[in-house]
Amino acid sequence: EKVSGRGCNMEKGSRIASLSILLSVVLSFRVSVSSAQEIDPLLYEEQLLWVSGAQGAVNTYRIPLLTYTAKGSLLAFAEGRKSSSSDVGAKFIAMRRSTDKGATWSPTSFIVDDGWQTDGLNLGSVVVDEEVGSVILIYSICFHLYHCSPSSTMMVESRDDGFTWSPPRNLSLQLGVKNFIGGPGFGIQKRYNPAKGRLVVCGHGTIEGDGVFLILSDDHGQNWYNGGGLKSVPYNQKKRAQDFNPDECQLVEMKDGSIVINVRNQNNYHCRCRMVISSQDGGLSLPIDNLFFDYTLVDPVVAAGALQKDGVLYFTNPSNEYQRVNLTLRWSLTDGKYWENKAVQIWAGPSGYSCITSLDRGSPEDRKYIFVIYEKGHKDYYETVSFAKIHLYGGR
Ligand SMILES: *[C@@H]1O[C@H](CO)[C@@H](O)[C@H](O)[C@H]1NC(C)=O
Ligand SMILES: *[C@@H]1O[C@H](CO)[C@@H](O)[C@H](O)[C@H]1NC(C)=O
Repeated sequence: EKVSGRGCNMEKGSRIASLSILLSVVLSFRVSVSSAQEIDPLLYEEQLLWVSGAQGAVNTYRIPLLTYTAKGSLLAFAEGRKSSSSDVGAKFIAMRRSTDKGATWSPTSFIVDDGWQTDGLNLGSVVVDEEVGSVILIYSICFHLYHCSPSSTMMVESRDDGFTWSPPRNLSLQLGVKNFIGGPGFGIQKRYNPAKGRLVVCGHGTIEGDGVFLILSDDHGQNWYNGGGLKSVPYNQKKRAQDFNPDECQLVEMKDGSIVINVRNQNNYHCRCRMVISSQDGGLSLPIDNLFFDYTLVDPVVAAGALQKDGVLYFTNPSNEYQRVNLTLRWSLTDGKYWENKAVQIWAGPSGYSCITSLDRGSPEDRKYIFVIYEKGHKDYYETVSFAKIHLYGGR
């Protein structure tokens, strides 16, 4: 726009016509390649969706997930831990829903209640199947085997945009009995080949039997089977500091159809930073040759957020080697090969798990925003769950 304004003021007569044709060619090229370069994220609006200890029968809200839906709504989920902040214990799955792009949210509904289990439910992965318009939520019960066994992988599904949910289904019947916990974050439906339409969910095992494992469905979540895995070393044995121990994960699909998984480096193997592993065959395998360590993404051992939008890869985590503080948004124009130097701090203080989504229904408005949900506090990172709307172009 600036270029064309300057050019036209200086030119006269018939040359303007030919010049403007030339300029529009130059401009359309500039716009298409430079919109990614002009990314200048701005924390545009923020609101707390859950406050620990402030609402009824819940002691602590943790493990936030966020997704878009096929109808253009946003759904936020969290574990409502009933009596303490501990990972074990009885919980609800809490949900709030927004039909106006995050401006207002429904009251909390508890869509799953595990009663009073000693080692109740844990989140989990949310997956949108755009072909049938469903939202699938995968969670575990008895993941820590604390006074219970075995661990089960469970699923609930909504066919009406998150309004109502099916009764829980036990996926261990199809997957086999194994400790598996999704994400935490979102799973994907593949948009590109190989395996367009497949649902792909990443998750991890117990600390001894840890690793990143994929579960797959080629029929919209009716049947699930085990895909590729990246096992810890030594597998099924007690871990020591600096052992190789891939843990919580967030995957994204690249435009070439590959799946890239950003992974928590549980025992700080090789660096205090993120591991990255990828699959070229739609999630059937995770070859160790594809593994690398992303030294730019320093990490205090936590679940992080990632999103691929319009050819740009976004990443959120508390960017600090030792503490869960400094929630930071990074972006890459090179599919994660390099990250732009200019990172944006979302919250300087205590901050933990995060998850990113966006609406992508082709409107100019939707291209401008991404949404981040994260654990945020002043003293402890699990005091609240916050929803942040990020304008990608500095509010312009
Ligand atoms: C889920 O199915 C597995 C395999 O049959 C079984 O061992 C487990 O007890 C089931 N879990 C629940 C909660 O029903
Ligand atoms: C916050 O993150 C930025 C970007 O990674 C980094 O430069 C800065 O040192 C971090 N600050 C703290 C206190 O961790």
